[in-house]
Amino acid sequence: MVRGARAPAPAPSSPRMKATPVPESASTPDVPVIDEPTITAAVDDALAAISAASGTAELKQVRIAHVGDAGVLSRANRAIKDLPKDQKAAAGKLVGQGKGRVQKALAARQAELAAAEEEAALAAETVDVTLPTDRRPRGAAHPLTTLQDRISDIFIGMGWEIAEGPEIEAEWFNFDALNFDIDHPARQMQDTFYVAPEGSGQVLRTHTSPVQARVLLERGVPLYIGCPGTVFRTDELDATHTPVFNQVEGLAIDKDLTMANLVGTLDSIARALFGGEPVTRLRPSYFPFTEPSAEMDFRCFSCGARQGTDHDADPACRVCSGTGWIEMGGCGMVNPAVLRAVGVDPEEYQGFAFGLGIERILMLRNGVADMHDMVEGDVRFSQHYGTEI
Ligand code: DAH
Repeated sequence: MVRGARAPAPAPSSPRMKATPVPESASTPDVPVIDEPTITAAVDDALAAISAASGTAELKQVRIAHVGDAGVLSRANRAIKDLPKDQKAAAGKLVGQGKGRVQKALAARQAELAAAEEEAALAAETVDVTLPTDRRPRGAAHPLTTLQDRISDIFIGMGWEIAEGPEIEAEWFNFDALNFDIDHPARQMQDTFYVAPEGSGQVLRTHTSPVQARVLLERGVPLYIGCPGTVFRTDELDATHTPVFNQVEGLAIDKDLTMANLVGTLDSIARALFGGEPVTRLRPSYFPFTEPSAEMDFRCFSCGARQGTDHDADPACRVCSGTGWIEMGGCGMVNPAVLRAVGVDPEEYQGFAFGLGIERILMLRNGVADMHDMVEGDVRFSQHYGTEI
């Protein structure tokens, strides 16, 4: 007896299967006659189906139908063992050869169809590299530019004007007008890029402060201006220094301005830049163009050190290093000598000035750890910040 399709195995302890076993014949499909016409017909059927298959998926169905367990050839093959002994060899040969022909045809057709399919796929995916393309790489404004614009907006929001000055600056504006002594160390070669030839009287401006003198001459008083721009010093590039960097200068000249106005202005800028409740701290310092002069610190916006105190700063704060304060730059009341140099009467007009480093603001505000990222020009850095920071 030959079992065609295997019945599911009964559970080992199934009492029903033990009591009433299903007769074997009940699940036995037709056993094909194993003779030449039957096998040849089965082979011819299979070969016809194989050559008619139009793709590898269809060929797979043909394979299942014709050489799968339920196919005539497989069923015949399984029935050979039940034939009388003297017929087994001839039947085995007949079925075996037939099956062999079908397998061979299947393999050949499979190769043929797979190759055709691959060729079609390649043709479909062909890229014509000669076609014109509009896939231009997309850039983004550099975050320093965006921040500079934002700072300008803060000045404009306070009702101030924006002014610019040249990057190649007259030594007179960069130093003399700002009351730098002829022997001031900043004039020495290690700080300043001098423009050739020697004695040209021109430098790459070392700060944005010369714009103070320029606008006072050009626009007169009263005056409220912000001057963002690039400045140059002979520093080596490292994680926190660069020979080319950006500052923003603030200058207010009017009647009756005091240091209280300076502190109030700095508080407004701190709030606009970093948010939160600003507190500005001034520490005595020296600049030739201000008197008195101060270094200004903003209360750390990151660890939220309490108003004006430093004892409750987060010791692990990466922005203020646990001090509760971040150093922002220099400031002071404009030195009467500067006003006199540009023809303003210091008895009538006074004012204050300050200078902030834009790179430093970006580092603190946006967590940029290394100055190199700002100057290397990798578009991914800019794109990370997008057009808004
Ligand atoms: N120009 C100074 C510098 O680059 C910064 C500065 C200090 C600017 C005091 C000012 C000021 O306007 O009042 O180091």
